[in-house]
Amino acid sequence: MASSLDAHLRSECGNDPLKQQVAETIRNLAGAAVKLRNKIIAGGDGMGQARGGTNAGGDVQKELDVIADRVFLEAAEASPLAYFGSEEQEGAVALKPDASLAMAIDPLDGSSNIETNVSIGTIFSILPVDEEHRADPSRVFRQKGSRQLGAGFFIYGPQLLLVMSMGNGTHVFIFSPGFGGFVELKTSIAIVDKANEFAINASNYRHWDQPIRSYVDDLLAGSEGPRERDFNMRWVGSMVADCYRILLRGGIFLYPGDGRKGYAKGRLRLVYEANPVAFCIENAGGKATDGTTSILDIEPEGLHDRTPLVFGSKREVERVARYIADPSALAERSPLFGKRSLFRA
Ligand code: F6P
Repeated sequence: MASSLDAHLRSECGNDPLKQQVAETIRNLAGAAVKLRNKIIAGGDGMGQARGGTNAGGDVQKELDVIADRVFLEAAEASPLAYFGSEEQEGAVALKPDASLAMAIDPLDGSSNIETNVSIGTIFSILPVDEEHRADPSRVFRQKGSRQLGAGFFIYGPQLLLVMSMGNGTHVFIFSPGFGGFVELKTSIAIVDKANEFAINASNYRHWDQPIRSYVDDLLAGSEGPRERDFNMRWVGSMVADCYRILLRGGIFLYPGDGRKGYAKGRLRLVYEANPVAFCIENAGGKATDGTTSILDIEPEGLHDRTPLVFGSKREVERVARYIADPSALAERSPLFGKRSLFRA
């Protein structure tokens, strides 16, 4: 029998009191995810309906976004957390004043997919709370992602999965209704170095900067282009699902900044989307950047900051950085291949 989430968490923490609190928080999140999954399964037409407002980040808020926020806030209240920062709320919610942890969360990732019965998720990031944060709570969610003590995401799909890391490998657990909890599905995932698939919302092609266009042009040119092999494309529209696929079989995900109003730094949020995903990806041997800089090294200015995001197989992510950093190399390659894009006449 595979080991349970509980057993795994116990073995990760040993006697470290701070890790034990992270583990207790993850246990509570797992309980909340099962609750939310049951609500999703029970369905009801209303879940994908817009509530007529937008959240703190300006996205349309749907009924399930609000339900998810409530379910995870309850789990947070039961956990050793001093602060809860959610995509669905403007500011951080203060919880237990003396607790040593804070959690940032996207309660419902992939909201545009709710009514279509495509996988959706919850993404979480657990951070330490030190004296400096108690003195100035506005700094709690301005910590770099490299300071995360635990991070991960749930996927509500054909299966309910938990992908998580406490800094010692990235592990996957599956909810087993028979067992009544999560059991280990994959331990210490290692992302393959060579990417064969890419994920990007190609409808934004005309808004991208030239390096991103050139990179994608070269992927699309396949065996006839400079890469000399073919690539497949997948875009679920729920980052959790794209991330899990990349953990399993390699590849690359890009949500770059683009020329649309409000999209200079892309769409994704640094603190509760990019950071936890980057933590899981890097703990599985992959890489996550904003194009050039490691996501985990970026100092957020606020809870709802956006960041361009590129993650996946290490070599491929490094290649994107070369396209961005060295346009002269691109100029050399473009006379031959620049005209081949499927997007250009
Ligand atoms: O808001 C987050 C998110 O839903 C991600 O899960 C997903 O990868 C992305 O946005 C989809 O964006 P778009 O609708 O621009 O394709």
